[in-house]
Amino acid sequence: MAADRTDADEARDRDALVALIDWHLAMGADLALDEAPHDRFAEAEPDTAPATRAASPGPQPSAARDQKPYAETRLPAEAPRALPRAATLPPDEVAADARARAATATSLAELEAIVRAFDGCALKATAKQLAFADGTPGARVMLVGEAPGAEEDRAGRPFVGRAGQLLDRMLAAIGLSRADVYIANIVPWRPPGNRTPTPQEVAICLPFIRRQIELSRPEILVTLGAPATQTLTGIKDGIMRARGRWLAVEGERGTIRTLPMLHPAYLLRQPLHKRLAWRDLRALRRALDAPPELDRSAPV
Ligand code: URA
Repeated sequence: MAADRTDADEARDRDALVALIDWHLAMGADLALDEAPHDRFAEAEPDTAPATRAASPGPQPSAARDQKPYAETRLPAEAPRALPRAATLPPDEVAADARARAATATSLAELEAIVRAFDGCALKATAKQLAFADGTPGARVMLVGEAPGAEEDRAGRPFVGRAGQLLDRMLAAIGLSRADVYIANIVPWRPPGNRTPTPQEVAICLPFIRRQIELSRPEILVTLGAPATQTLTGIKDGIMRARGRWLAVEGERGTIRTLPMLHPAYLLRQPLHKRLAWRDLRALRRALDAPPELDRSAPV
């Protein structure tokens, strides 16, 4: 009875609550998504969320520069959905399904709708929403990071947290704004507790980011950190060896020059390495300023 409760009882209850919260944090549940609990493993609703944005043809290299920044054209956030398929099918089959779906997208808007409706990646069950892209589709530079964090999960856009703010300052140092680039991640849903995405999660989402790159048609791809670099270029080197070296990523429409850089989240922890990032940013600036290479196959 409440009247019989002592200070010691109150303290014990408080300790038990704190221990419970600590346990949730240790399990990766570090964000309250809603007032009411959700059963993420309940029967999935059929995907009825229509793409509210008209599908537009994939951006052409020149016309693309005039596109609106991504934040101005975003779809509304969706409610998280349950995922029976991710739990029941072998990862190879899910990845093959993702490849088939990604191949059907003829524009970034279509691809976003396809990814939004895809329930083959378990990360979708724990993420608040999809963080598909930010910046301007079709920009000359596309940056790819690893995975959304808590802030990105809340906002539904990549790189909006502290690492994203540093990224904005890094871009500004070479005269670029967020609207001058297009930004995405290897996986578009936040892994719980910001853990590293598993190889299966990466393999399942890979067809989507590859198609996103193809449809955005950047002149230059910047991979931020080792996971994005290794996943997209296939090299095994760590980021300290890979950074600043021009690599090639083969796309459907030819080779894309690719520059690995240190991840801004790493630079927040290791500020002395900003000088290396500065070197790489200057290399990016030089590449953007250089006259485009002659297309030797074109008739004179
Ligand atoms: N780190 C990433 O790799 N991506 C984000 O979107 C945010 C932080």
